[in-house]
Amino acid sequence: MNDVATRTGPAGAEAPARRPRVLSGIQPTGGIHIGNYLGAIRNWVRQQDQYDNIFCIVDLHAMTVPYDPADLRARNLELASVLLAAGIDPARSILFVQSEVHEHTELAWILGTLATVGELRRMTQFKEKSKGNERVGAGILFYPVLQAADILLYDAAQIPVGEDQKQHIELTRDLAIRFNNTFGETFVVPEPDIKEAGARIMSLQDPTKKMSKSDPDPASRIELRDSPDVIRRKIRRAVTDSGAEVRYDEAEKPAISNLLAIYHLFSDIPIPELERRYAGKGYGEFKRDLAEVIVEHLAPIQQRLDELTAQPADVVRILQEGAARARAIAAAKMERVRDVTGLGLPTL
Ligand code: AMP
Ligand code: TRP
Repeated sequence: MNDVATRTGPAGAEAPARRPRVLSGIQPTGGIHIGNYLGAIRNWVRQQDQYDNIFCIVDLHAMTVPYDPADLRARNLELASVLLAAGIDPARSILFVQSEVHEHTELAWILGTLATVGELRRMTQFKEKSKGNERVGAGILFYPVLQAADILLYDAAQIPVGEDQKQHIELTRDLAIRFNNTFGETFVVPEPDIKEAGARIMSLQDPTKKMSKSDPDPASRIELRDSPDVIRRKIRRAVTDSGAEVRYDEAEKPAISNLLAIYHLFSDIPIPELERRYAGKGYGEFKRDLAEVIVEHLAPIQQRLDELTAQPADVVRILQEGAARARAIAAAKMERVRDVTGLGLPTL
């Protein structure tokens, strides 16, 4: 943990935070699934008391792929409602929409002048999305620079994300160090916080791919809004491995291992205990029970989500207050950045 850096804060930081600050971002692109929930959101919720928390709905990142402007705002609102229903508490955490705080784009430009095209092209996300695509948008290339700005603006010490984001956090660290070396101590160098369990929940239809919002097959994922019957059907239809034994073995039994991990994370029952419980019982009974465990865990979240969906003005107000709090922190940091980089007018 980056305790020292957070306690003392670099020059120009606001009053030192009492607790280490964590920050994470999530894109308003499509339904939140149990991979997002188990790999990221649930950890954010559980850690709220320990840290000073900032959660950002990254609509500017969501623009890097084709989208419909008519529903982006609705998706921001939907994602905020899901996060609140899952347990993000605006009394303890700042929750806001990225584009509401203009400093993100401003700092992204400045950090972009320190990043090299070579290192951005080496990002896995860029490589995957640009493969065989001559017309790949420069926004995809610049994506991790904007992400670095999200993090560095707030002196965030820890970034709780899924495994897939590790490379972006490493780039953020490199840019922070480069900036500090070039212009003087300005940014806290953040650490990724990747939980072993849940870091990579796989597709229900192909255990070699991670569960993803962008998978065209909705049967590949369980969304937080899925009804109990849909959840039962998706688990029933989830692919399994050859044999009939419920055993954790990622190499030999990737599909069952993924289902066991999901069962464990939702129930807190250790995996060896689950293996014992289903010894000699086959996949059918295991899947039936797993579906009920998921349904039961999601029920209270879904109920809160229905309530929040009926009260959109409350959610908008929470986001406005969150943006105001975020803006105050970000503006102070940008003042320091403009100062050390020499932007703007001389003071006479
Ligand atoms: P995204 O859906 O890409 O905006 O991701 C939001 C958060 O969920 C990030 O912290 C990701 O690392 C995490 N995440 C996304 N997909 C998965 C997955 N299949 N398993 C675990 N974590 C995930
Ligand atoms: N790139 C992240 C994802 O796809 C989302 C994100 C944007 C983020 N800004 C961030 C995550 C800042 C952590 C910190 O999941």
